[in-house]
Amino acid sequence: MTEIVRLSTADAVKLLTPRAAAFIGRVSHKMLIDGSWSEAAAGGAMEVLNPATEELLARVPAAGPQDVERAVAAARAAFDGGPWSRFTPEERQRALWTLADLIEANAQTIAQIESLDNGKSAAVAQMVDVKLATQLYRYMAGWATKIEGATVEPSFPRALGLEVTAFIRKEPVGVVAAVVPWNFPFLITAMKLAPALAAGCTVVLKPAEQTPLSALFLGELIAEAGFPNGVVNIITGDGPGAGAPLTSHPAIDKISFTGSTEVGKIIGKVAMDNMTRLTLELGGKSPVIVLPDFAVADAAAGAAGAIFFNHGQVCCAGSRLFVHKKIYDNVVADIGAIAEKMSMGHGLDPQAQMGPLVSAEQLERVCDYIDLGRAEGAELVAGGARAGNQGYFVRPTVLSNVADTARVSREEIFGPVLVASPFEDLDDVARRANDTPYGLGASIWSKDLSAVHRLVPKLRSGSVWVNCHSAFDAALPFGGYKQSGFGKDFGRQSLDGYLETKSVVIAL
Ligand code: NAI
Ligand code: MG
Repeated sequence: MTEIVRLSTADAVKLLTPRAAAFIGRVSHKMLIDGSWSEAAAGGAMEVLNPATEELLARVPAAGPQDVERAVAAARAAFDGGPWSRFTPEERQRALWTLADLIEANAQTIAQIESLDNGKSAAVAQMVDVKLATQLYRYMAGWATKIEGATVEPSFPRALGLEVTAFIRKEPVGVVAAVVPWNFPFLITAMKLAPALAAGCTVVLKPAEQTPLSALFLGELIAEAGFPNGVVNIITGDGPGAGAPLTSHPAIDKISFTGSTEVGKIIGKVAMDNMTRLTLELGGKSPVIVLPDFAVADAAAGAAGAIFFNHGQVCCAGSRLFVHKKIYDNVVADIGAIAEKMSMGHGLDPQAQMGPLVSAEQLERVCDYIDLGRAEGAELVAGGARAGNQGYFVRPTVLSNVADTARVSREEIFGPVLVASPFEDLDDVARRANDTPYGLGASIWSKDLSAVHRLVPKLRSGSVWVNCHSAFDAALPFGGYKQSGFGKDFGRQSLDGYLETKSVVIAL
């Protein structure tokens, strides 16, 4: 039986670094517009809760259209012939590298702020979220000095009598609106800021209303790192109040959004009105495929990690498990045993293996899906309900023998809920793995080289992991097929998303 490790607020505060304690102790925060810490023009504020305790953690400004206007104007001024456009590539590289050094020096502080805000484990956040963000700022710092065009020799008809030379320039796309969700607030912010700044763009960042704090802390580091005013503006607000006016603003050149497919489609339509460039990283229902040769215990551990990491609040969480019928019962039973043994608790408690979901809304949504799955005929192997009555904890849940047509098999749950079913052969599993509107990630668990190589090209998915899941690197592009979005985060490909291409022809 899972138990909740309790940690009083007083004890939690004792674990904080001095800088995290000072930041959290402030309670009321301001947002960053044109280098100044500002209240919302209309004076409103939003409450931010600690999801492990449901207590008030912070108040942040509730930005509205006037604040969006100021932030966009500041970003435009910094870009359009402003200070950032005069930075040399080497100066942009240095600024990004300095920011990475400051993040590294404050890694524990950032992880603790993220943990209190989101509910995730501070230790894991430091090792994964903050570490990968640091690597990404450094990786993109390197690209700032390596953005290259090309020269071209055109084949114009000789009869025109033109002597020409031609070249291709790469230019920053301009002002970027970065809209970020609550599951990896600090890391997803880096996935947008790092390539945008390396390319020479300026940014208006809107963190999620549930988790704005690590972005505001990053704002302090950005100021310390010596970025000119207006290069990065951070507005806190909700989707309708701040996100919608930001993404529909005609002075925005590029939107980079991570979040729900529903909001991604709204933003996509709005973007088309202004022809705003767009990267969308949306939902998923990623399959985990275990072939019959794989060791049962290793498959169970791998599949459990694929779904329960970050409490299942991962866009590429391995939420659909397909196990070959020969080992199905054993693998599912082992995952159930792992789920039942996981300890739950406050993200600052090193004993806790799983924290709360981010919000009351997500708690309700995930519990409703569990009830729905059981009503749809799924067999409950582990978990199945909320844990305790304080904090948004949900027991790691395993549903077995679920029909492919069940809503829990088709819709993104975004919580620690695994849906499992057996398969017959490779063709069967490839078809069923692809039978979803999504195509973000997939994993194959097997040592059978031929089977793996047969399956990899069949999977309609932006990432395929073999004998691992959700394995990310700054250099590896990440993004979806189908309704999981378009454009890439990470890698050189994400940098291209912040660059325009200009052809220049000179008649001599
Ligand atoms: P959401 O898509 O509404 O929120 C993501 C971000 O978009 C937030 O910053 C939000 O303020 C902003 N936003 C919302 N409406 C907007 C609008 N009309 N214009 C511009 N920005 C807007 O996600 P939500 O409601 O927090 O979660 C709902 C579901 O979405 C989750 O249960 C999960 O299934 C999915 N989701 C997927 C994520 C991913 O990583 N792909 C991350 C978060 C949620
Ligand atoms: Mg929403």
